[in-house]
Amino acid sequence: MQVKFLDLLKVNEPYFPELMQSTQEFLESGWYILGNEVKAFEKEYAAYCGTPYCVGVSNGLDALRLIFEGYKVLGKLKEGDEVIVPANTYIASILSVTQSRLKPVLVEPDAETYNISPEEVLKAITSKTRAVLAVHLYGQLADMEALQEICKNHSLLLVEDAAQAHGATCRNGKLAGNLSDAAGHSFYPGKNLGALGDAGAITTSDEELVGAVQALRNYGSHKKYYNMYEGFNMRLDENQAAWLRIRLKGLDNENNRRRELAKVYNEKLNKEKLILPLEAKYGKHVYHIYPVLHPERDNLQKHLLENGIQTMVHYPVPPHKQEAFKHWSNYSFPLTEKIHNQELSLPISPVHTNEEIEYVVNVMNQF
Ligand SMILES: Cc1ncc(COP(=O)(O)O)c(C=O)c1O
Repeated sequence: MQVKFLDLLKVNEPYFPELMQSTQEFLESGWYILGNEVKAFEKEYAAYCGTPYCVGVSNGLDALRLIFEGYKVLGKLKEGDEVIVPANTYIASILSVTQSRLKPVLVEPDAETYNISPEEVLKAITSKTRAVLAVHLYGQLADMEALQEICKNHSLLLVEDAAQAHGATCRNGKLAGNLSDAAGHSFYPGKNLGALGDAGAITTSDEELVGAVQALRNYGSHKKYYNMYEGFNMRLDENQAAWLRIRLKGLDNENNRRRELAKVYNEKLNKEKLILPLEAKYGKHVYHIYPVLHPERDNLQKHLLENGIQTMVHYPVPPHKQEAFKHWSNYSFPLTEKIHNQELSLPISPVHTNEEIEYVVNVMNQF
């Protein structure tokens, strides 16, 4: 049997007929930038997340970047302020901080969830700390209740990187994107809510920030050819918005299917040498990724591939060991490094069949 890591055509195909209809309307609208589709998606995605506002933007990195730039024009952040970030994340989280000329302060994750550790955040706070960036890695929320408490007590901004966790819920019922001052979402095609290209959004209940980021995404302008800020071109495309409106309707079902498949892995994988992802008590995982840790990760990956199973590594090199951040090469984050050395992502998507997942289990258990 051949098992793809992710068959995007199969994921997207059921939504194509509705897209054809909506594309016809889009083509005939004669309006191709920041029009009715973006407005409607923003309204629908805000309602989904439970936030008063959503601002559609070009991608997930830009969403986070715009949040930080937005706080800068509002005077809540300034160049050089410290932002506590997880060492164990995709590099984009950290780039959003460095590109905004803020100073990332990296901290280790919690050993069970692989997400930023609230205890480590507390230890890293200095007189220059102004914000914490929580990343919901692999589809599991960071411990937002603990982080909210810390940020409240120390008057820090709390920002979520919800790129991998569309639809993840906290035990109080609130969704990813509604657990902080502002959240950045990525709709990169492979994400749980994936576009047909690059796309992203910001969700927030901060009306002032909405005004700032709406201008900043569009050359710093609220009124055509009048520019308040040195802004960017970071707008969400109309046709991506139209597609996302269609895909959004299927998101909860798709996430439930991911959870069903994760349950099969949780129950049937041999745990002798393998560490399976733990679902934290405080929230519902949406398994964007099903990460296992194994001391012989590379051999295990080879064994799976020889048996027709594609896997991926999220991620092979931690941000502080990347060439791009070579000035951090002396940093040591043992837990982050262990995760990067041992992590393997097993196939999990709404279109994988039970037979495929059972086959992965059998091949895994043979190793
Ligand atoms: C955790 C995380 N943050 C940010 C991003 C950036 O999103 P994008 O690729 O849409 O810029 C991604 C995805 O690529 C991600 O996985």
